[in-house]
Amino acid sequence: MSVVIAIDGTSACGKGTLARKLARHFGFAHLDSGALYRLVALRVIADGSSIARREDAIRAAREIDPLGVNDPRLRSAEVGEAASVVAAIPEVRAAVLQFQRDFAAHPPGDARGAVIDGRDIGTVICPDAAAKLFIDAEPRVRAMRRWLELQQRHDPAGLTVPNMKMIEADLLVRDQRDRSRAVAPLRQAADAVLLDTSDLDIEAAFAKALALVKSKVETALAARPRG
Ligand code: DC
Repeated sequence: MSVVIAIDGTSACGKGTLARKLARHFGFAHLDSGALYRLVALRVIADGSSIARREDAIRAAREIDPLGVNDPRLRSAEVGEAASVVAAIPEVRAAVLQFQRDFAAHPPGDARGAVIDGRDIGTVICPDAAAKLFIDAEPRVRAMRRWLELQQRHDPAGLTVPNMKMIEADLLVRDQRDRSRAVAPLRQAADAVLLDTSDLDIEAAFAKALALVKSKVETALAARPRG
């Protein structure tokens, strides 16, 4: 039985960075579930299709290769926006659900646990997770962080970086779409703890996140059957 930390939150709130750091701290595997939806969107775009064509998105979701999660093209603003659109299609969500549950139950590398970040991890994918966080930050702060991230990735991926106002507007549209979809909308699970990182740098946010999950994770690890 693996121990799961579920981390949900708004776009560009820093949940991916926190999830990676928590995974490293506990020696757990990490899954960025947003990358799965980004893979679906990238496949549709790369095939020259339109994300408005539901059947193309559903086919792409059924055929995705999770090994492609490190493709730098996944990080573009265009693919992020398209990922939010395809993620509202119930059949797309159904197609990637089992992969996430399998990852949670049997993390790669025989890890004792998994940290999964996304929008519906604490509510739908792993409702029994040992610890749940809901991360948020003010839109202005999130836009700045996303802008910096896109700047850093600019050259290798050959992307154009939108200005910060455009990024903020895009994040708000994306949050609204993610919160209002009918299936597995973005929301804080009843037993998730809210962490606002607006005034925290990465190290301070990590220290707070760790303090919030540590005893729950240790209790769950201690309760695992031996052998
Ligand atoms: O976390 P991200 O920006 O990489 O996610 C891209 C989009 O994927 C996001 O706007 C909504 C969707 N998503 C989702 O619906 N459910 C998840 N668990 C993760 C991401």
